[in-house]
Amino acid sequence: MMSKMENIAVIGAGMMGHGIAQSFIMGGYAVMLHDLHESILETAEAHIKNSLELFRRADLIAVEEIEKAMQRLTLTTDLKQAAQPANFIVEAIPEDLSLKQDVFCQIENHCDQNTIIASNTSSLKITDIGMRVKNKKRLVITHWFNPAQLVPTVEVVKGEQTSDEIIDITYNLLSKIEKAPVKIFKELPGFLVNRIQIALAREVLDLYEKGVASAADIDQAIRGSIGFRLASIGPLLTMDLGGLNIWFRVFENLLPDIQSSTAPPRALQKLVGEGHDGIKSGKGFFDYSMDFSKGELEDTIKQRDQEFLQRLKQLYRKTTS
Ligand SMILES: NC(=O)c1ccc[n+]([C@@H]2O[C@H](COP(=O)([O-])OP(=O)(O)OC[C@H]3O[C@@H](n4cnc5c(N)ncnc54)[C@H](O)[C@@H]3O)[C@@H](O)[C@H]2O)c1
Repeated sequence: MMSKMENIAVIGAGMMGHGIAQSFIMGGYAVMLHDLHESILETAEAHIKNSLELFRRADLIAVEEIEKAMQRLTLTTDLKQAAQPANFIVEAIPEDLSLKQDVFCQIENHCDQNTIIASNTSSLKITDIGMRVKNKKRLVITHWFNPAQLVPTVEVVKGEQTSDEIIDITYNLLSKIEKAPVKIFKELPGFLVNRIQIALAREVLDLYEKGVASAADIDQAIRGSIGFRLASIGPLLTMDLGGLNIWFRVFENLLPDIQSSTAPPRALQKLVGEGHDGIKSGKGFFDYSMDFSKGELEDTIKQRDQEFLQRLKQLYRKTTS
């Protein structure tokens, strides 16, 4: 069906869109990045340039490749200009069903009938987003993780009418740009990864609420144990290595005591109710005017991104030298 895959369009150049566009230009594809205003596109372009420089410092891209990659990027406020030549389109506009439905219809009016249209939605169904699209077989979810240019996994989610061929083409395309796609065959809310993340967060917040340990120590405990391990091997292999009989016993002993509420955790309700949103408001589980000295938070985030890049290097053993 799809003879060649050359031109990519990314619709929405916000937090996710610019990272998705960067991944494709680094992978050798021409990308049209579309948003409503020039100023947003210019900010996105600056973010991409900064990030490419970090990739260069980590020896994950050669200096001459940066310029070539940037030449593959075109910014446009014209949806038609972005969609018309595209073989593959990723929508990354806000998480609003009716907005996404409208934009999908507009995209379909501008692009080829065989163009694959993917949504980066975190919580909606592609079957709902594409309700008014005529050719529904070519609709798919590609769920990237923030920062999209760094985190390898992309969930490729099949909608009710998505064809297997579209799933395979999407999977192969993402593999070619060195992401680590996974195929998800059922449109469950939260797909796969976010369901697990929420299950973990529910228990974390319950322990925090009960005062079992401080916020800093909870983070430290998880980073240095299951987080440390999960960066190298997955939960199922971990269980096999530990011995399933032991896991079975631990399940029997612990499950009755593990949090299973279906309401948002009380600790979160309280903080959000008091207007504490995390770094955006200056306070969350940590107080950013007291617990972090000047510049320490920025340094922590820089350090995180450098560690992500080092891990990417280990994963792909990729080097420019
Ligand atoms: N932020 C995350 O961590 C994350 C992770 C995975 C998936 N997602 C999903 O990705 C999507 C985008 O999220 P984000 O965090 O990048 O949002 P964002 O608000 O940072 O970016 C959205 C961009 O879309 C633009 N936009 C709005 N309406 C548009 C239109 N009609 N046409 C073109 N552009 C339009 C906005 O100007 C903005 O730049 C959402 O569906 C979100 O649920 C987000």
